[in-house]
Amino acid sequence: MTPSYATRGALFFSWFMPSFTRIGYALRKLTWSTESFDFTGQTWLITGASTGIGRQMALSAANAGATVHAVARNADKLQQLADEVTSNRGSIVSHSVDLSLMATVTSLANDFENNGVTFNVLVNNVGLMLDKPTRTSEGFETGFATNVLGHYVLTEQLINLGGLKSGSTIINMSSGGMYNVALDIEALQGDQPYDGTLTYARHKRAQVALNEHWRQTYGDMINFYSMHPGWVSTPGVETAMPEFHAALSRLLRHPEAGADTALWLAFTKPEQRDPQNIWFDRAQRSPHFFSGTRQGDSSSELVTHLQSAMQASVEAA
Ligand SMILES: NC(=O)c1ccc[n+]([C@@H]2O[C@H](COP(=O)([O-])OP(=O)(O)OC[C@H]3O[C@@H](n4cnc5c(N)ncnc54)[C@H](OP(=O)(O)O)[C@@H]3O)[C@@H](O)[C@H]2O)c1
Repeated sequence: MTPSYATRGALFFSWFMPSFTRIGYALRKLTWSTESFDFTGQTWLITGASTGIGRQMALSAANAGATVHAVARNADKLQQLADEVTSNRGSIVSHSVDLSLMATVTSLANDFENNGVTFNVLVNNVGLMLDKPTRTSEGFETGFATNVLGHYVLTEQLINLGGLKSGSTIINMSSGGMYNVALDIEALQGDQPYDGTLTYARHKRAQVALNEHWRQTYGDMINFYSMHPGWVSTPGVETAMPEFHAALSRLLRHPEAGADTALWLAFTKPEQRDPQNIWFDRAQRSPHFFSGTRQGDSSSELVTHLQSAMQASVEAA
């Protein structure tokens, strides 16, 4: 019998507790090489880069020599980030835009094309968990638009406009929360009543499915990876899950640990055994923990759904 979503959540929490916290990171790190990353001359695009894991990735990549295009809404926070870069080899270029709006995402991709900017690395990191359903001015549930559809539109636009260099790397920042759910396309914009945690988990499952599709479609030109960062102390977690954040405050990872696997993937571009796999703490892992989560919709059905959502947004514009 397949356990209920609530039972899976409880099992998941107790099983993964040491692994996803700073304990798992500290133990695994003992076995890793201490070589530092060098991204000199590379151009990166990181979404959701004004706080948390995205901010740390942007800072680390810029300090390792990359020119990082950092995207978020808060211009002041992006400016503070740019001011914190200590290396004279790398820098931050800020883009203050709302990635929940497909018109904005499309114009961002067009701006890069018009300015001849192409990327070695794209990190689809922007993500949020909401406690109640809200809709964007384009009519999509805000979490779905930010966490899934915007990633799809940005990535496809960049690929189609030649915005990714040959041999480039795309990293999709998912979450361990996706282990609790199957891919359910009809529920991507939330159920009645709305459950923010469940809806977020579905978005994170969709990211992993999308990554699988992209690996199969563009894998000869681009290195695609999905990953999750463990449980990291960030403003996003503190706001969306205050009780979880307070209860685990001493055990949550530092953003540096949350960013580590993304930086390592971009630097080492490891081979992947199975297109479905997800990376965590520098190792690839199965995207399924509960057998029931294998019985969901397929990645090709997801892509058809996202294509029609994208088309609808273009026609409405
Ligand atoms: N922290 C964890 O434990 C954890 C665990 C699993 C997965 N993750 C994933 O890791 C990623 C980063 O999470 P985090 O915890 O670092 O979150 P965070 O601290 O809340 O950062 C989210 C970033 O996204 C930006 N953002 C949010 N909505 C946006 C929008 N509409 N347009 C543009 N930018 C937007 C925010 O900046 P502005 O407000 O300035 O726009 C911020 O820079 C997410 O995909 C999350 O699902 C995190």
